[in-house]
Amino acid sequence: MTVYAIIGGTGLTQLEGLEMKALLSPETPFGVPSAGIVRGEYAGREVLFLARHGHPHRIPPHQVNYRANLWALQQAGAQAVIAVNAVGGIHAGMGTGHLTVPHQLIDYTHGRAGTFHEGELDHVTHIDFSHPYDEPLRERLLEALRVCRFAHSDHGVYGCTQGPRLETVAEIARMERDGCDIVGMTGMPEAALARELDLPYACLSLVVNPAAGKASGIITMAEIEAALGEGIGRIRQVLAHLLAA
Ligand code: HPA
Repeated sequence: MTVYAIIGGTGLTQLEGLEMKALLSPETPFGVPSAGIVRGEYAGREVLFLARHGHPHRIPPHQVNYRANLWALQQAGAQAVIAVNAVGGIHAGMGTGHLTVPHQLIDYTHGRAGTFHEGELDHVTHIDFSHPYDEPLRERLLEALRVCRFAHSDHGVYGCTQGPRLETVAEIARMERDGCDIVGMTGMPEAALARELDLPYACLSLVVNPAAGKASGIITMAEIEAALGEGIGRIRQVLAHLLAA
């Protein structure tokens, strides 16, 4: 049985139903992960859980130690990674509350430690990243979404911005021209680091606001929190189906 690691994003700092067996606090060559890794049992299956922004939530997206997180999860035995994240909706079909399993991404971040392949190297490595998400893992997530009968998109282009500020209207217009459907701040370098470690990786994204300029008025934290509160239950159900399958 695949050992899944769930990386919980904003609004998902713990996984209900995960019976904790151990709380791991590993050191890695890249520092310490965002929080302790919960090793537990879910529906008879071994599952690992890590809160990306720490527990309690305190690490902003650009300061997450993505390398330590991925490294530690693999050391703990992860065989596949499901990343949960909150996003803004760019495409008209991505309204608040919509769930998406993206199939592509564009990286707009800068200055983040984004590779394990640096320092004293024997040789230079360029991983293939044509298809950043693992297709069989995406399919398992989509099957869980279908079973739950939740409105969702089976593909989408995730644009990853640096944050922590939200985008300008012009930035979102440019991202739309680039082909982005949703915008978030945590998808990269997480996906690339997982690929460097050969860990199958897929993303479950919840739209929590229309991206800048996609609705009248400004984006408020209250609106984002309300959408998270409403949507997180559905994310939990999707994960429950995935883990029980
Ligand atoms: N932009 C970037 N990241 C986000 C957003 C957004 O509008 N909403 C939630 N995460």
